[in-house]
Amino acid sequence: MVDTSDEWISTRTGIKERRIAGDDEAASDLAYRASIEALRVAKVEPEELDMILVATITPDMIFPATGCILQKRLKAKKIAAFDLEAACSGFLYGLTIGNQFIATGMYDTILVVAAEALSKIIDWQDRNTCVLFADGAGAAVLRPSEDSSCIISSYLGADGEGADLVGVPAGGSRLPASFETVKRRQHYMKMKGNELFKKAVKAMVKAIEISLEKSKFSIHDIDLFIPHQANIRIIEAVVKRVGLSMDKVCINLDQCGNMSAASIAVALDQAVKKGRVKKGDKLLLTSFGGGLTWASMILEW
Ligand code: UT7
Repeated sequence: MVDTSDEWISTRTGIKERRIAGDDEAASDLAYRASIEALRVAKVEPEELDMILVATITPDMIFPATGCILQKRLKAKKIAAFDLEAACSGFLYGLTIGNQFIATGMYDTILVVAAEALSKIIDWQDRNTCVLFADGAGAAVLRPSEDSSCIISSYLGADGEGADLVGVPAGGSRLPASFETVKRRQHYMKMKGNELFKKAVKAMVKAIEISLEKSKFSIHDIDLFIPHQANIRIIEAVVKRVGLSMDKVCINLDQCGNMSAASIAVALDQAVKKGRVKKGDKLLLTSFGGGLTWASMILEW
């Protein structure tokens, strides 16, 4: 489809495989399946939910919110449901927001879902992006902790100065859909990958330092690091700079590609299911993406 090779993709990015949703599948379909699994594992019924939050940059449509569509599918009560757009940092932004509602006592049981159908906004004629992005969803149920397992620290950041580095130019109120925008392929994602690469390393390292400082932990206290999965070379550079060893890092980029907000959510689930996470382990989750946005969280499992 484009002038590329398996060799270029694997050596420059680390991606070997990825998952693409069917023609009839949208973000809410992926969100629904991840939510059902998260509710099953948490032993929570949909009626017990107090709020649904869906992190996505590929909502089913501009509005209504994918969160509301998911609420209906889950047969949840008429609880708060909304979408959150923080690109690749969406899952960590979502967990942090959910955590605050629980900490203030306003809500008890919150479903945080990260769901992306990025294949729908990829330009399959643009080799700069079409080899990288993929579809997937992950979900978490947040509740007040009855033991020591909890979110220990969380740090969120953003820099709108880099807003032009990755995004979909048309289809919003700045450049509404028209024959011209379709002809110019402006409804597809555009990315300045090289500039993002350098910013990603710097921002993720800084975010890790801040979240460690907030938690009063050192990097040596971390049992497992789950970074956003954009590029293996970004992950390796970050890991080297913060002084971690690669055997403490969770990678799913090779199998899943870059699933934006869903990357960390899916990697966390895979790590748990593979038995890589034990009770009491300290996990470091760090993301960087469009916006620009970044986030870093330390939690005890
Ligand atoms: O998810 C969060 C937001 N996104 C990111 O964080 C992405 C961060 N950036 C990256 O991961 C990397 O920058 C990319 C994987 C996107 C690109 O890798 P790179 O090593 O930075 O490549 P480049 O953009 O500097 O391009 C190098 C060359 C160029 O050719 P010329 O101009 O040197 O002749 C590109 O045209 O590689 C070419 N190229 C490709 N060649 C084969 C770009 N894409 C491809 C491709 N196949 N798919």
